[in-house]
Amino acid sequence: MINKKNMNIIEKLNWRYATKEFDTSKKLSDEQLDLLLEATNLTPSSFGLQPFSVIVIENDEIRQRLKPSAWNQPQTTDASHLILFAIKTDLSEKDVDEFIKRISESRNIPIESLAEYDGMMKGFLKQMSNEDINNWQAKQAYIALGQLMVSAAVEGIDTCPMEGFDKKEFDKILGLEEKNLASVVMAAVGFRSANDKYQALPKVRKPLNEMVIKL
Ligand SMILES: Cc1cc2nc3c(=O)[nH]c(=O)nc-3n(C[C@H](O)[C@H](O)[C@H](O)COP(=O)(O)O)c2cc1C
Repeated sequence: MINKKNMNIIEKLNWRYATKEFDTSKKLSDEQLDLLLEATNLTPSSFGLQPFSVIVIENDEIRQRLKPSAWNQPQTTDASHLILFAIKTDLSEKDVDEFIKRISESRNIPIESLAEYDGMMKGFLKQMSNEDINNWQAKQAYIALGQLMVSAAVEGIDTCPMEGFDKKEFDKILGLEEKNLASVVMAAVGFRSANDKYQALPKVRKPLNEMVIKL
């Protein structure tokens, strides 16, 4: 791991790249993994509902089984860990109730004082189709993926965001259907191989004045 203490955020974000080849001999320490999970848990989400689960996959045998369903991308098996984001296929008012209870406990305020917020969230969910609810959950998961990757870069940990996998197959292999979960996106997390030629490639980005519209 390089010492990135003296780098500013732009230097750290330039250091980050979608890692294709991981060093199979390097594993995240428990502390590093916990730190990334904590950073991911601190992601903002719509209403604060955190409507997704994060599945950490380290087991080699499971990852070998997943690989063919991920276009045989080597990151699937060679990274230290896979961190998979999954939405709830049965998100309901019960999740809102649990969230309201958590706010009440975390902030030490009576549940009754949260009645309006509770009604607002339940009203929001009620007017959406199941498909809309799933898309809305997936958006929250993608924001978390971004926070995970930036946090990793700040810590000198490599990631590859991955959408290139058969979500239905992953759900079957991982038994997510029984848990009423559906995978949406994942990150391979670990340490780059010195042989990964992608790390040396210049970034390809629009000039700022093409991305930004200032009014
Ligand atoms: C949502 C998402 C899904 C992606 N899926 C894959 C993938 O399955 N495999 C892969 O090698 N790279 C994947 N990428 C990486 C992009 O190709 C990469 O971020 C982009 O080319 C910019 O390069 P950089 O991240 O190295 O700067 C994905 C990126 C994002 C944001």
